[in-house]
Formats: sequence, C-alpha cells, structure tokens
Amino acid sequence: MTEYTCVAKTFTGLEDVLYSELKDLGAKDLEKIKRGVKFKGDNELIFKANYLVRTALRIMKNIAVFEVTDEESLYENIKKIEWTDYLYKNQTFVINTDIFHSDLTNSAYVTLKAKDAIADHYRAKKLTRPSVNKENTDIYINIHISHNICTVSLDSSGESLHKRGYKIAADKAPINEVLAAGMIQLSGWKGDIDFYDPMCGSGTIPIEAAMFAMDIPAGYYRKSFAFEKWLDYDDEVWQKIKAEADEKLKDLEVNIIASDRSEKAVQIAMKNLKHAGLHKDIELVKTYFDRLKPKSEKGILIFNPPYGMRLSEKDIIKTYKEIGNVLKRNWTGHKAWIITSELKAAKFIGLHPSKRFKLNNGPKEADFLCFDIYEGSKKAKSGKVFRLEKKKNTTFKKKKQS
Ligand SMILES: C[S@@+](CC[C@H](N)C(=O)[O-])C[C@H]1O[C@@H](n2cnc3c(N)ncnc32)[C@H](O)[C@@H]1O
Repeated sequence: MTEYTCVAKTFTGLEDVLYSELKDLGAKDLEKIKRGVKFKGDNELIFKANYLVRTALRIMKNIAVFEVTDEESLYENIKKIEWTDYLYKNQTFVINTDIFHSDLTNSAYVTLKAKDAIADHYRAKKLTRPSVNKENTDIYINIHISHNICTVSLDSSGESLHKRGYKIAADKAPINEVLAAGMIQLSGWKGDIDFYDPMCGSGTIPIEAAMFAMDIPAGYYRKSFAFEKWLDYDDEVWQKIKAEADEKLKDLEVNIIASDRSEKAVQIAMKNLKHAGLHKDIELVKTYFDRLKPKSEKGILIFNPPYGMRLSEKDIIKTYKEIGNVLKRNWTGHKAWIITSELKAAKFIGLHPSKRFKLNNGPKEADFLCFDIYEGSKKAKSGKVFRLEKKKNTTFKKKKQS
C-alpha cells in the first residue's frame, strides 16, 4: 500500500502520549510537532489510528506540499493536484484552512480560491465538478499554510475524534474525551488498581478509564469516519481492523467508581454509561466527595473539580481546601490526580504535587497535578498553603504493552 506523510492532531501537552500510541500501532518516521505528531503510514495505519488512538483529535493524510506566497501560486498549485484521484464528481466536499506566519493571511479567501481551483480542475477536464456541502460532507480537505509552505491534506476523521459516540447527554463543563484519555495515560494507570472519579459530572473520565482498561477501541461507539468515503477506501481492510481490535476486549479487573454530589449529573452519567454498555462495569454513586470511602488500600483518583466564572474566588479556595482535607483524611495509600485551571487556588489543597503536566482544558491553560497521599499527609496542617513552582512537564513514560 502507498505510504503517506500524515499528521495526527491533539491538545497541548498530549504530544508524547500521542507519539507513543502511534508508535505502538507501527507508525514510522514519527516526529513531534506543536499539538500533534507527524508520521508515515499507509491507509491501513490511518484507518487503525482513527479507531484505536485515544489521544488524536483528527488524522490527516498529506496529498500535496508547495510554497505559496500569493493567491496566484495558491490557485495554480491547487488546480494541479490530481483531484479525480480523491473526489468523485458527485461527491461533496468542504475545505478548512488554517494559516500561520505567512504572506497570505485571510483563511476565508484562501478557502474560496482553493474551491475555485478545484472547480476549474474539473472544468478543464470537462467533468462534472463536485460540490461544497458543509452539512453532508463526503470529503474533508484541509489547507494548512505555515511560513508560506502550504500542505493540502485529506482529513481522514471528519468529525473530531473526541466525538466517540457514547456521550448522549452532558452536564455542565464536561471534559473533552481526548483530554480525559490523555490524562489517564499520563497518570500511568494500567487498569491494575481501583479507579475513582469523585466529581464525575457526565462520566467522561470513568468511561474513558473503563475503555482504556478493557481495551475498548476509542472509536468503538462511533458510527462513521471520513475515510469511509475515500476513493481508495478498502472495506475489507477496515472490517478486519475492527474485528481484530474488538476481539481483544477484556473484562475489568478492578473497581471503577464514579460519583458526584449532583443528582442531575448522576442521571446524565448513567445515561452515558448505559449507552456505552458500561453501567455494569462502572459503579455510579450520588454522594459528596467527603462521604466517599476507598474500597481498598491502594487506588487512583482522577478528577476535574468545578471551575469557571460561576464560582467566586472564595468558593474556589474553599473547594480546594476541602479537597485537600478529604484527601488527607480518607485517601491514604492513594494517588490523586487533579486537572485544574484555577492555578492559584490549587495550592490551597495543602499538599505538594509529586508530578505535574501542563495541559490545556478548552481555551484555558491547566495543570494536571499528582498528589501522593501517605500516612504523613494527614499531619500536614489543614489548609496549609504550598507553593506550586513553575516547572516543565515531567517526561511521559511509554505504556508497557501487555
Ligand atoms: C467540572 S465538573 C466535572 C465534569 C466531568 N469531568 C465531565 O466530564 O462531565 C465538576 C463536578 O464536580 C461536582 N462536585 C463539586 N463539588 C463536589 C463535591 N464536594 N462532591 C462531589 N461532587 C462535587 C459537580 O457537581 C460537577 O458535576
């Protein structure tokens, strides 16, 4: 099969995890880039990556690269691409453009010019031209211009891969699925000790944890991927990839407990759990964090406490002090990972983080902090403030393949 240069996109801070996931699948010539990983692979690898990689938002296959300094060179180079290899005459397409540090600056105009170039390519061949349709799109085209180098690629995913297909309901501020999956892998959890999300909201983190531990593919619940409309799509290869991956599904060996103080959140989480068929695997409880007790001596907590405009600074400080107190009181022997954009408030937890990753939660910068709760933690004065130093990310250690 033909090999292509591809780019998998992700969120800030998850590049190492994504690199590791792609390497495990057999991607070649991997190179970390900002919010993504470049690699070489054939269509089979692209299909696999869409189905299995948990920390990719989309996977692009490059079809042309050229220098572009003005609209004329853009038009001519796009027109030159052998579009009949990628687009049936009756197919619909959409173009997304992003531009960084280049002479051309107007992405809407570049999109328009590229659309004209594609139409003229078909006109010159006296063929019916494919049409643009944003609602019912067959082929997703991406134009990326950076420092005057234009990369034209086909987006193999279409709808972002964080849309896993299991979330049918959402409460306030649900965490992105790709971010949740990345956090789980950054934490180093292997599905071998009990897992808790005591502020589970819609249930994203525990669902991603169960999928990870049970080897449920990231795309298991998703109905479609853009590559299924490609001209060189091979259904036999795709069905084989799915069948082989689905055969590896396994049972949970530990407890996964999701809880929240809000009745509404618990109901929403239950809907999602049921939709994913995980309601018998994940234990869902309506309770306040201070009432939740560990089931065993060792375990891990991963959660994102409330944040945002609705909470006053006083509330936020109170929430973080309370989290620290509960951890020290009830969770000895456990590791607690917290993602927070309330960088100042996090120090009110009153514990030193043993690890720290810099991530982004939506548009906000976030810290993903690990607190080791051991016997001595109890003695730390309740509410004592520790300084969170500005440190670089800790290196991600590759997940051992079983
Ligand atoms: C930012 S949301 C979590 C979103 C969640 N990760 C998701 O993907 O939907 C924070 C959640 O913490 C819950 N919460 C806040 N304080 C709590 C407490 N003391 N005990 C239990 N749940 C709490 C809220 O009800 C809310 O659902």
